[in-house]
Amino acid sequence: MIDYDKIVSERAREIKPSGIRKFFDIAQQMTGVLNLGVGEPDFFTPWKIRQQAISVLEKIKTSYTANSGLMDLRRSISGYLGRTIGVDYKPENEIIVTVGGSEAIDLAIRALVDEGDEVLIVEPCFVCYAPMVELSHGVPVTVETSIENSFKLTAEALRAKITPRTKALILPYPNNPTGAIMTKEELEPIAEVLRGTDIIVISDEIYSALTYGREHFSIAALDGMRERTLVINGFSKGYAMTGWRLGFLAGPQPILKHILKIHQYAIMSSPTVSQYAAITALEECDDDVAKMVEEYDVRRRYVVNAFNKIGLPCFDPEGAFYAFPCIKSTGLTSQQFSERLVYEKKVAVVPGDAFGKCGEGYIRVSYAYSLKNLKAAVKLIEEFLEDLKKEHGDE
Ligand SMILES: Cc1ncc(COP(=O)(O)O)c(C=O)c1O
Repeated sequence: MIDYDKIVSERAREIKPSGIRKFFDIAQQMTGVLNLGVGEPDFFTPWKIRQQAISVLEKIKTSYTANSGLMDLRRSISGYLGRTIGVDYKPENEIIVTVGGSEAIDLAIRALVDEGDEVLIVEPCFVCYAPMVELSHGVPVTVETSIENSFKLTAEALRAKITPRTKALILPYPNNPTGAIMTKEELEPIAEVLRGTDIIVISDEIYSALTYGREHFSIAALDGMRERTLVINGFSKGYAMTGWRLGFLAGPQPILKHILKIHQYAIMSSPTVSQYAAITALEECDDDVAKMVEEYDVRRRYVVNAFNKIGLPCFDPEGAFYAFPCIKSTGLTSQQFSERLVYEKKVAVVPGDAFGKCGEGYIRVSYAYSLKNLKAAVKLIEEFLEDLKKEHGDE
């Protein structure tokens, strides 16, 4: 008998499964669950993009592409970054097309981190950063944010965690799970701390197209920051293209030339059909994105108001498609709350602590669902809160 636990590397064994997955699994085992746990758009990929993919398949353009991606796509990405964040990247050697933002994050971490290097991770945040740092033998160092600072990173919190071993800062805005964004004025003091250091910013801007009432601003656009920033973005969220698995990374050539080696050995090149389709996304689909943003905004306003009304104070998210209401008044932990809610009312959300310890006391609710579903879910959550009150009354 093979003892597989002895065969699998210690690091792989020690990585904890994602706290998001657990609730998907519960929701999937039950029937009739309103699942507000999933972090993906409910919209279809715009038709023009699908049509382009069909045409590419008809023309049998199915070979590998250049390792760093189709030149035409890199040109489009360069144009996109120029017009959205105002930073110029050379298509020739400052952009790599990746398998989703996920691969870009993995590549950035693997290319930068040596054993014992510290990577600052702003929490609450998406679940993959710390495990990826650990797989690279690095040390994830949490920088906590809280509702008092609207879940934004402050210069003070950042400065307190910098040591001589600090290699990188992962800056996750617009934020999953809080929906917080950071403005130019709020990023300037962060840049001021970093200028003159060798710390590289890994700026995860995957939700940059989904902001409400304010344009996304990238730290790379601030003076002296382009040279110390890797910008990560992709097509999953803004263009409703999660399953196409396409993202990109832009940054200084001296780092990208090493990142490209890892990508080349691990992946070869990103999916070819998706790459052609992504050119159409960037060149022809601004209106489709604008329509989706408009619809998310209607839902966002509904959900935030509804939570505030039923007694779960909700931070006003300015980006992504998540609300992050506070459930501390119920006396339950976020795990208890989420578990009971799914079993008792068949509504799935994600407990805030899945995104870091400072997410405790909150739940993440995705509003990438129809208003009809959101209204039904809010009603059930309200009933759940009433049940809890009755329970307390009975004690
Ligand atoms: C903050 C953040 N970054 C990156 C990703 C990865 O996205 P993808 O690999 O689909 O581009 C996600 C997905 O949920 C995310 O929420």
